[in-house]
Amino acid sequence: MEIIILNSAEEMSKKGAEIVAAAVKRNPKAVLGLATGGTPVKMYAELIKLYKNGVLDFKKARTFNLDEYVGLPGTHDQSYRYFMNENLFNHININKKNTNVPDGLAKDIEKSCAAYEAKINAWGGIDLQVLGIGSNGHIAFNEPLSGIMTRTRKVAISQRTITDNARFFKSMNEVPKTAVTMGIGTILKAKKIILLASGSNKADVIAAAVEGPITHLIPASFLQFHPDTVFVLEKEAASKLKGKY
Ligand code: PGA
Repeated sequence: MEIIILNSAEEMSKKGAEIVAAAVKRNPKAVLGLATGGTPVKMYAELIKLYKNGVLDFKKARTFNLDEYVGLPGTHDQSYRYFMNENLFNHININKKNTNVPDGLAKDIEKSCAAYEAKINAWGGIDLQVLGIGSNGHIAFNEPLSGIMTRTRKVAISQRTITDNARFFKSMNEVPKTAVTMGIGTILKAKKIILLASGSNKADVIAAAVEGPITHLIPASFLQFHPDTVFVLEKEAASKLKGKY
C-alpha cells in the first residue's frame, strides 16, 4: 500500500488524473474501473482537460463502473450511468459501447451480475480501479460486513450511506435502498487500485482502513491485502493517520 498526501482536493484530483492518464498512455486499450460520488468529479474534469489538450486519447479505452442504484434508469439524473455520461464520457472520445455500468433495471439481477463479472474477465480484467470511500468504510456499495470474496451482486444500502447520499436527492425518501455493486473480491482482482479521499469527514475511516485491523467492519481495510494500491489523500482526510508516510 502506498500513501500520497497532498495539500488540497485539487492536487488530489490532479494526481488521480495523472495515474489514470499514465495507465491509458501505457495501454490505449486499458480497462479502467471507475467510481462515482463527489470525490472523483474533479479528477474526471482533469481527464477531460487532458483529452481536450490532445494529451490523452480514449478512443480504445474501456471502462467498468463499480455500481448502480437498483430501479433508476440511465436517464435518471441520479443514476450512475447518467453521472458518468455527464461528468466524463460525453466530453471525451470514448466509444460508449466500451463503457459498462451495472444494470439497475435488470429483470434477472443475478444473471445480469454474473454476466458483468464474466465481461470483466473476458475483457482481460481491470487494469486500474478508481475508488472513493464511504464514511462507514464502504468501497463501491460494499457496506460493512461485506466479505472479502464477494462478487457483483444486489445489496442493501446502509442507513449511513442513504443519509450521506441524500444530499444528491430532493429528499432522503428518494434515495434508493438497494444497489448492484462489484464485490470486494471483484475489486481486489484489479491489477492496480487508487483510492481518493478528501475532507476531515473521511479522516477516521482513512485511519481505520490504512492502519486498523483488516475487518469486514471496514470493507476498505481489505485493500491492505492488495499488491498495488495507492491512497491519494488530501491532507485533512489523512489527518488521523498515526504513521509518517
Ligand atoms: P463521496 O462518496 O465521494 O461522495 O464522498 C464516496 C463513496 O461513497 O464511495
